[in-house]
Amino acid sequence: MLKRKKVTVIGAGHVGATAAQRLAEKEVADVVLVDIEEDMPKGKALDLAEAAPIYAYDSRLSGGAAYEETAGSDIVVITSGLPRKPGMSRDDLLRVNAKIVKEVTEKAAAKSPDAILIVVSNPLDAMTYVAHRVSGFKKERVLGMAGVLDAARFKAFLSMELNVSVENIQTLVLGGHGDSMVPLLRYTTVSGIPVTALISKDRLDEIVQRTRAGGAEIVKLLKTGSAYYAPSAAIIEMVESILKDKNKILPCSALCTGEYKLNDVFIGVPVRLGHAGIAQIYEINLTAEEAAALNVSASTVQDLCKIASEVL
Ligand code: NAI
Ligand code: 2OP
Repeated sequence: MLKRKKVTVIGAGHVGATAAQRLAEKEVADVVLVDIEEDMPKGKALDLAEAAPIYAYDSRLSGGAAYEETAGSDIVVITSGLPRKPGMSRDDLLRVNAKIVKEVTEKAAAKSPDAILIVVSNPLDAMTYVAHRVSGFKKERVLGMAGVLDAARFKAFLSMELNVSVENIQTLVLGGHGDSMVPLLRYTTVSGIPVTALISKDRLDEIVQRTRAGGAEIVKLLKTGSAYYAPSAAIIEMVESILKDKNKILPCSALCTGEYKLNDVFIGVPVRLGHAGIAQIYEINLTAEEAAALNVSASTVQDLCKIASEVL
């Protein structure tokens, strides 16, 4: 008998709830929404279930604070975390979110020992490291979402600049999720045409910089939170590639064990995502400058991981 796939989304806030909505509307899986709040995820799950007859989806939705319902999930998406509050340093936030990710990973992994973990909470690469350490899952089954979002932002800005379809743009963004990310112009094409043939270097530099600051641009506009439409869309692309065994090549935060001469660090690299998680990490050719930028990004992530380790 065909069994529907099950995805647990931890953190029923902006990103988590929108991811649940997208998963249901695309009938990718049944969804369990978990939050530290008891009633709020229940309410959101019920609200989404009540939209099902109109949108014609049969995905089942449930929500709550307990983990019983999450048992046997194929994928667990971790979006729980706190935003930075006034007076809180980045390091303070790192410690708080590391504790949250540690706690939810322990609970979710105990109920779904065969699941694939997709981490979304920030700081992304360090939180993915925490989930990997705490779950003890194989490296193929723990990955972080950032590169798909960062690449989507880059593609969106390029399509606005050139007035061409977003579907025509191919690109890769490597590195950690933050100021040190590495958008790769040499791997960016517009329907096969190198982007450098279409946009001047100065303008491309500006677009790259806008991509790097893409998260902050949305925060500044929203004023009370961060992006969630594009982040949730990015999550769904990764979930679908896994559950449908599509084997898409996507930039994801993955544990490098020698690739790009990087060891024991989670960082954005191109991976092939299939039913078992990361099927392959692609080691693409980088110029000395690109490799140096990736190294800088990796050492930034490693510094964060050291701090996160203190709460493990
Ligand atoms: P939000 O504040 O709307 O939602 C976070 C949810 O986590 C809240 O509902 C909160 O109650 C819950 N939570 C807190 N502690 C918990 C615990 N111990 N157990 C279960 N749930 C808990 O935040 P939003 O906008 O949904 O963002 C979530 C996280 O994702 C943030 O860390 C944000 O920075 C990150 N993010 C990462 C992106 C990426 O590219 N990797 C993109 C967008 C957001
Ligand atoms: C973003 O890039 C906040 O990491 C989040 O929108």
